[in-house]
Amino acid sequence: MTHSSPPSRESAGERTGHLVLVGMMGSGKSTVGQALAARLHRPFADSDALIEARTGQTVKQIFAERGEPAFRAEESAVLEEALASPSPAVIAAAGGAVLDAANRRLLRAAARSGLVVWLRAAPAVLAQRVVPSLASGGHRPLLEHDPAEALNRLDAIRRPLYEEVADIAIDVDDRSVDEIADIVLARMEERP
Ligand code: S3P
Repeated sequence: MTHSSPPSRESAGERTGHLVLVGMMGSGKSTVGQALAARLHRPFADSDALIEARTGQTVKQIFAERGEPAFRAEESAVLEEALASPSPAVIAAAGGAVLDAANRRLLRAAARSGLVVWLRAAPAVLAQRVVPSLASGGHRPLLEHDPAEALNRLDAIRRPLYEEVADIAIDVDDRSVDEIADIVLARMEERP
């Protein structure tokens, strides 16, 4: 590009690829993701919802009837498909999506043109947030027995994986949805 060319969106410093949110169950990926999608005028995609649409089964049913490995395979498939879509979206990747090394590679590749954001939360805060929703069934079978213990255990395993894939981590414990969205949007406007 010559100096006289009008700046492309990318050279103007905007990230034109997908905005992907990662983090534990209860970290606010769906709520923050929907707020960001509205502000960016982009579609919002949630990997759990994509799995349910694709399989016609709920997350809970897939875990119960086909087991976690089958769920993880569906998760990888919808993530790959969502990330391959050329039109920029806001994508909430469910908490366990980072467990698979191939998914992590896809997320790193997506970060080249877009942004991967880790919504980082203390397990105790996550437990407070998710417990009320568990009674109604929900889509979090891994938390059915002892949610606080499970969140602690999963958080310890996954922290380095979220760190590996994310461009930025935002501590969400004491921040409102709007504050988190503001931080993400400011980062989106920075030169990649
Ligand atoms: C899971 C997170 C859930 C859902 C499933 C497993 C996990 O999604 O995919 O219950 O392993 O962390 P959210 O992160 O959207 O709650």
